[in-house]
Parts: sequence; C-alpha cells; structure tokens
Amino acid sequence: MPASGMLPDLRDIKGQESAKRTLEIAAAGAHNLLMNGPPGAGKSMLAQRLPSILPPLSPRELLEVSMIQSVAGLLAEGALSNRRPFRAPHHSASMAALVGSGLNARPGEASLAHHGVLFLDELPEFQPQVLDSLRQPIEAGEILIARANHRVTYPARFQLVAAMNPCRCGQATEPGYVCRRQPNERCIAQYQARLSGPLLDRIDLSIDVPAVTAADLILPAPAEGSADVAARVAQARERQVRRYAALKLDGVTTNAACPPALLEDVAQPDPEGLSLIRDAANAMRLSARGFHRVLKVGRTLADLDGEERVRRIHVAEALSYRAHADRRPAAA
Ligand SMILES: Nc1ncnc2c1ncn2[C@@H]1O[C@H](COP(=O)(O)OP(=O)(O)O)[C@@H](O)[C@H]1O
Ligand SMILES: [Mg+2]
Repeated sequence: MPASGMLPDLRDIKGQESAKRTLEIAAAGAHNLLMNGPPGAGKSMLAQRLPSILPPLSPRELLEVSMIQSVAGLLAEGALSNRRPFRAPHHSASMAALVGSGLNARPGEASLAHHGVLFLDELPEFQPQVLDSLRQPIEAGEILIARANHRVTYPARFQLVAAMNPCRCGQATEPGYVCRRQPNERCIAQYQARLSGPLLDRIDLSIDVPAVTAADLILPAPAEGSADVAARVAQARERQVRRYAALKLDGVTTNAACPPALLEDVAQPDPEGLSLIRDAANAMRLSARGFHRVLKVGRTLADLDGEERVRRIHVAEALSYRAHADRRPAAA
C-alpha cells in the first residue's frame, strides 16, 4: 500500500506536467533531483509532495531508520512509521547539523534522511563547505564521523532533492525582466557558480520549473493524484528490488544505488540507445560519473515502462535531464 494517507497530494498542483513527470521518475529510481525556477513556481510544493508517491519502508529499512532516530534521540517524538523520512534543514544549517558531528557523535540530517529524502530548498544559499560535505555520502551512502579517538559510520543513503531560484533576485529568467544590478546572464552565472561542478555532477535529474501561468491556475484540479502516481512508482520499485535481489546485491534496492560496475549489465541500452549515449557523451562532455547517472535514469525509465531493455527513447529522455547540469561551468 502506498504511504500516501494525509500527506500533501500532487493533485494540489496545477499545470507543471513535466515537473510532475520528473518527480515521478525521481521517486521511481530514488534519483537526486534539482529544480530551478522563479519564486512561486511551485518547487517547494512539488518537493513536499514527493513523500506521497514514495513506497513505504520495507521492514529492514524501517529497522535501520529507527536505529538512527534512536541514536539521535528522536524516537520518542512519535510512533514508528513506515513512511520514508523527509528532512528539510534550513540553508543556515551548519556542517555538524547536516552530516553529524564528532563531538557527540550524533547523526546529522543526511543520516536522518537515510532511505528517504533530504530536501535542500534554496540550494545556493547553503554554505559551500556544507554542500561539499554531502558529496562523499551521496557517493557512498554512508558518513564517516571522526572523533578524537575513534570513528563512527552512519548510514546516509538519502535521495537529494534541491530547489533553487535562477539568480539571487529570482526573476532573471522571466521574459522581459531586467536585473537592476547587472545583465541577467551575469546575475544567473554568479548565483549558479555557488554550486560546485562536482556537486551538480551528482544530480541525476536537473530541470527548469517555469513560472505557473494564470491559465494553469484556473484549470480544474488534475484528475490524477498521488495515489495513481504512487502505484506506478511502486511497480517500478518492485522490478528494481527483484533485479538486485536476483544479483544478490545486499542492501541495493534502487537503480540510484546500483554500483557503477554493474550498470553495464543491468542498464545496457539497445544498440540504438548505445550509439545515442556514445554520441551524447562526447558532445556533452559527460564525465564518467555523468555517463553512469544517465544509464541509471535510463534504467528507471525502462522500469516505469515495464521493459527489460533500456531503449533509445529512454536514453534520450535521461539525457535531457542532464542538459542543465552540463551547461553550467564545470569549475567554480
Ligand atoms: N502549480 C501550482 N498549482 C497550484 N498552486 C501553486 C502552483 N505553483 C505555486 N502555487 C502556489 O504558490 C505558492 C508558492 O509555491 P512554492 O512551492 O512555495 O514556490 P517556489 O518554491 O517555487 O517558490 C504555493 O503555496 C501555492 O499556493
Ligand atoms: Mg520555495
């Protein structure tokens, strides 16, 4: 059963069809997601609705999540729930708050988001060092905290969901808007440069969320709500669980967590897809990591379609979600 009772529902969101589609893909494969768009576009609203389409925690996941909560002293806060954690630390959060601290060896937000979502709203407003401290756990699914005389490792296999305005004033991509301080392009570039290339490289799905139009807002509520989307997500997740269990990959249940070495086996595209990704890798100068992330998203798209093989159409869509990440300066 999808854990969607009483959570904010996707049906509240008018228009934004492609953003909703991307949210579904993110949920289906546990992929990292970055939404970029002007204030009021509905980015925070979309992120808050992700829990309503995610499958419930498995018993084993629930055990891991409650162990972390117990170490953090949070278990008393509420009864055990099989809902996936959704953590949304403020952008003023310190490194200790985010990844945990050696002083008292308390798990941070990244660990509290284990098997769930770590939502970073206004991503460029976080301190750069704080963001960089997330790179290692994104890759490894765990966090090493060094103390005076020993080290503790906490699990931290979270799904990163981030939102940002295109520039500090938020409007630079609006038609007709002229930034007061400098040319729009420079305003955008300056703001986006606050995000490091290596961090952006770890984002599987990067999309623009345009301002919601008045025409969208007067539409009737969409027919499809979270329960419908959650059902498709659950099916795609079941395929993944079966696949990785058959491969005896302990603890791997999602495409996002699939080790790179195995991707060539499980996400090998058909010949047309292969030639597309080869050409695109050159043209977009994809890093090895970027290449693997495209394969993972392609695998998830095929899983959503219920297909054994990743096809060209899946590769093409997966590539479209990286276009933004790769347009940005790699350095900075
Ligand atoms: N697509 C939408 N459908 C319905 N209401 C919307 C939509 N987008 C924004 N809103 C309204 O605008 C408010 C601001 O949305 P929010 O998610 O905070 O935008 P953002 O995070 O992009 O700045 C929401 O609380 C909601 O009332
Ligand atoms: Mg917001």
